[in-house]
Amino acid sequence: MNNLLKGKKGIIFGALNSESIAWKVAEKCHEQGAQIVLSNAPMAMRLGEINVLAEKINAPVIGADATSLEDLQNLTQGAMDHFGGKFDFILHSIGMSVNVRKGRHYTDLNYDFLTKGWDVSAVSFHKVLQTAYQMDALSDWGSVVGLTYMAAQRTFPDYSDMADNKAFLESIARSFGYHYGIRNKVRVNTISQSPTPTTAGSGVKGFDGFLSYADRMSPLGNASAEDCANYCVVMFSDLTKRITMQNLYNDGGFSNMGVSNSVMDSVYQAEEKK
Ligand SMILES: NC(=O)c1ccc[n+]([C@@H]2O[C@H](COP(=O)([O-])OP(=O)(O)OC[C@H]3O[C@@H](n4cnc5c(N)ncnc54)[C@H](O)[C@@H]3O)[C@@H](O)[C@H]2O)c1
Repeated sequence: MNNLLKGKKGIIFGALNSESIAWKVAEKCHEQGAQIVLSNAPMAMRLGEINVLAEKINAPVIGADATSLEDLQNLTQGAMDHFGGKFDFILHSIGMSVNVRKGRHYTDLNYDFLTKGWDVSAVSFHKVLQTAYQMDALSDWGSVVGLTYMAAQRTFPDYSDMADNKAFLESIARSFGYHYGIRNKVRVNTISQSPTPTTAGSGVKGFDGFLSYADRMSPLGNASAEDCANYCVVMFSDLTKRITMQNLYNDGGFSNMGVSNSVMDSVYQAEEKK
């Protein structure tokens, strides 16, 4: 334990089960000395697993649907009451596309599903930030991180409208990062994570093949949920005080690759079989 987050306090959204990236982030932040308030949608909390984490890291759980301003205000106030004042960091680890869930092809999207998806996956980031900003809940030099995926920059056909939601999310980090930076020196970034076997990740069609492709394309291999959690710890620490409005890749090098020998070898093998 290095106590990188000693004295820091924060809200972590999105720990559904022990596979969740947010779960690992909460564990790592706790290990590094942070105090945490956990939150998830009331429906997800009914599944009960979050209480196991809460007990382990001695954190209260305050439910909030991240699309509801009223819920977010209650959560933010509840966290300030618990911490006895302002806090230092927020992890937004929330994503869901109804179109992806229901297997709707990108050329046949249902727009009610699309609206729900961007509200949960992107606009909720703005709502979390705006609530904290208006309630003046974050200490100066605080840090906010949202989790994203590279489909915001490059096309991954089965990621469907989640690609657009992630582009929206990343843009909010830049836009809000300006205003929060000017007023409170609060930094706002997104971490673009490798495909990771979690409930949300596995919802994407053909996820296993996709996971293996990304791994073979990445010189360092796919970043795990633990790797992402370590990166979040650094981003919440005072070691990254002037990193803001960035989309930061935690992907083993994938985002700068064209093709790898490993992937080319399987293409040659497939050609030979023809
Ligand atoms: N798993 C991957 O391959 C991968 C890759 C890159 C980025 N991400 C992103 O990481 C984040 C966390 O996902 P994960 O992979 O840990 O999966 P996960 O399913 O464990 O987490 C998603 C969380 O979103 C929460 N959520 C959904 N609707 C909500 C709402 N209305 N209000 C509050 N919370 C809500 C769920 O309850 C759940 O806890 C997401 O933003 C996801 O897009 C995941």
